[in-house]
Amino acid sequence: MIFKRSRSICSEIANTFVHIYEAGEASKNLTTITQIYDTLVAHNMDRSGLIVALGGGVAGDMAGFVASSYMRGIKFVQVPTTTVAQNDSSMGGKTGVDYLAHKNMVGAFYNPLLVYSNLSTLKSLPEREFTGGLAEVIKHGLIRDAKLFATLEQNANSILDNEDVMIEEMTYASCLVKCSVIEEDLKELGLRKILNFGHTIGHSIETLSNFALSHGQCVAYGSCMAAYISAQRGYINSEDVTRIVNVFRNYKLLAPINHFGHDAVWEQMSYDKKMAYGKISFILLNAIGEATIVTDVTKEEIINAILFIEKTCQ
Ligand code: GLY
Repeated sequence: MIFKRSRSICSEIANTFVHIYEAGEASKNLTTITQIYDTLVAHNMDRSGLIVALGGGVAGDMAGFVASSYMRGIKFVQVPTTTVAQNDSSMGGKTGVDYLAHKNMVGAFYNPLLVYSNLSTLKSLPEREFTGGLAEVIKHGLIRDAKLFATLEQNANSILDNEDVMIEEMTYASCLVKCSVIEEDLKELGLRKILNFGHTIGHSIETLSNFALSHGQCVAYGSCMAAYISAQRGYINSEDVTRIVNVFRNYKLLAPINHFGHDAVWEQMSYDKKMAYGKISFILLNAIGEATIVTDVTKEEIINAILFIEKTCQ
């Protein structure tokens, strides 16, 4: 993270200082936040300062949370360098940290002044990091932009090869989806819930795997399961499900999986259910490119979806 202690974003380098933390989700906690506050205080950072979040989703979430709370709020800028941060987490003002065993338990909605993405940074990512973030891009296509989904479907090789023109087209379309949703519903009172497509079951699997499975993989499994439930209800057809599974597979996001404890997945989801006053908002598809929010998904539907994904990903 980089801090500037000046009214001007373009001031001299002398007014800039850096705080570096250990990369990864394990750092996303209140201990690291306290260390960042200590750095700010040590450099006499005042309310005219600016925080620049340079890095992936963890950097953005923590820098934003510090910016939201230090001296009751100072300015910050997002400079995302990963696929997931450029396409998703840098936009929409969700900031915060994990607390005890719970992801993103403590935080605030706090928007950056600016999001600046340099797509060349994606070339420096390990493959797992690069493809993991593409799960969120595929999600954006599925929930709101059938053309983006078709682009991803037809250009997997160019995108996986990180070809500039395709990455630019993809990122632009993906960010438009994200921005159109958050502009309508920043605080997730309604519409923004559709951004959780694939995440309700996905989070359960991620937690149960002790984070051995990547977030992108879990979103991919969760998205295919949500698509399957949508088809079982007659909202989409089975050819749509096949297309969706094939896209996640082509982006290397559907590795073979071991048996999931079915009751354990449901119980983990039920924990979220308690958090949401007894109802799970579950996101299904009315069509590729059109999401719908339901609150009546049953345990039987979830178990059948798990059986489907286990069979699909042997
Ligand atoms: N990544 C989901 C959201 O921003 O709401």
